[in-house]
Amino acid sequence: MHTKIKSILSLSPVMPVLIINTIDNLENLMSSLIEGNLNNIEITLRTSCALKAIEIVANKFPELKVGAGTVLNTTDLKNVKDAGASFAVSPGSTYELAKMAVDINFPFLPGVSSSSQIMNLLDLGYKHFKFFPAEASGGIKYINSLIGPFPDIMFCPTGGINENNALEWLNQKNVICVGGSWIVPSNIYDFKEITNKALLASKLLQ
Ligand code: 3PG
Repeated sequence: MHTKIKSILSLSPVMPVLIINTIDNLENLMSSLIEGNLNNIEITLRTSCALKAIEIVANKFPELKVGAGTVLNTTDLKNVKDAGASFAVSPGSTYELAKMAVDINFPFLPGVSSSSQIMNLLDLGYKHFKFFPAEASGGIKYINSLIGPFPDIMFCPTGGINENNALEWLNQKNVICVGGSWIVPSNIYDFKEITNKALLASKLLQ
């Protein structure tokens, strides 16, 4: 499960974080992201239709790795697995949640913003973390400070990352990819604009 999350995070330099308020237009939205060469997405469990959206995307877009975000407890983890999510992401973590993901062999990216949180998860074999909220928790200066004590750990920073600072984050040695809501900013979708933003994001490291 730890190597599976690494290969998912390696698919694209940017993982769009989506808050889906309605499943209307969901298929057009996914097509616009695929056209923009982004292959992994995170649908947050922050809306009542999020699980349904994950199920639809998992069934209709096998070329996309759909992850579930804002997974807060073991019930959420079970629900997103049942809905067909390929991986789960959380803003923080609890022992129960992180242990269950290992036990059921489900790719999981736990959120951290301190060394103690990292150390607790290292004990369970985790090597990849979401660094959240990235800008508010100390930004690039902070993540650089983690290379010394945790040289083998890689992060997907999210929270405050956008088209202006994504490349700088991606250039850090311990950053495997970044995530953010800037590709799909609202519920009023301009699909052409989303594809353009996705294309720019997909080429950030070229
Ligand atoms: C997340 O859950 O990763 C964040 O809400 C994304 O943060 P952003 O909206 O600042 O990109």
